[in-house]
Amino acid sequence: MIFDVLTLFPGILTSPLQESILGKAIAAKALAVRTHNIRDWAEGKHLTADDTPYGGGDGMVMKPEPIAGAVRAAKEKNPKARVVMLTPQGKVFRQADAVRLSREPGLILLCGRYEGFDERVRTTLVDEEISIGDYVLTGGELGALILIDAIARHIPGVLGSQGSAETDSFSDGLLEYPQYTRPFEWEGQKVPEVLLSGNHAAIEKWRRQQQLIRTRQRRPDLLDQVELSEDDQKFLHQLERNDERPPQG
Ligand code: ADE
Repeated sequence: MIFDVLTLFPGILTSPLQESILGKAIAAKALAVRTHNIRDWAEGKHLTADDTPYGGGDGMVMKPEPIAGAVRAAKEKNPKARVVMLTPQGKVFRQADAVRLSREPGLILLCGRYEGFDERVRTTLVDEEISIGDYVLTGGELGALILIDAIARHIPGVLGSQGSAETDSFSDGLLEYPQYTRPFEWEGQKVPEVLLSGNHAAIEKWRRQQQLIRTRQRRPDLLDQVELSEDDQKFLHQLERNDERPPQG
């Protein structure tokens, strides 16, 4: 997978792409990230990439011509790449999008600054608009990094063990179960005994139940969207009945 990131500030992406799993995956050529400075396609004495908004108002708007130049140059190198615009007005990015986009032959990530893009950029050059959450950032670069990170985990060869993307929070629609490592007892808190039992079926059952408890407590909205087994449903009903029971003693 090749990511082409179009930005006015390519330096923002440098260090995160050199470290840890992404750094190793790029060195191993499991993925490539190229950054392109939109200003390289700007014209005029001052290489202007932004201008004041028609109709007045605060801030500056990114001009269409330099962005068109940058998108079209990236498309020439990777014609099948999908053009994704980072914007708080896009569809909110979810795990299913990370999996879906990991199957694309390439992604061109368009990062905005200031008050955003001239509307004609969106209508002419963009396949999809993505927001990373309901808050406004100073620009799309951090959003692009988040997309790259979340998508890269689903590209073969990026994670050491392919298993780890499959047992993630969200991969089965539920939050992840709690994990423990040594020491067995820390500051008076012991590791749940079942994890030391060597009984794999019991461990699996406990983990699934922990997933259900956590998801129900923290993200009940997710429970409506997942496929639950009969055992899952029974366990959730039991939790509900426990809630309804009047306090003892
Ligand atoms: N640019 C500014 N805010 C953003 C957000 N929430 N998601 C994606 N791009 C952005």
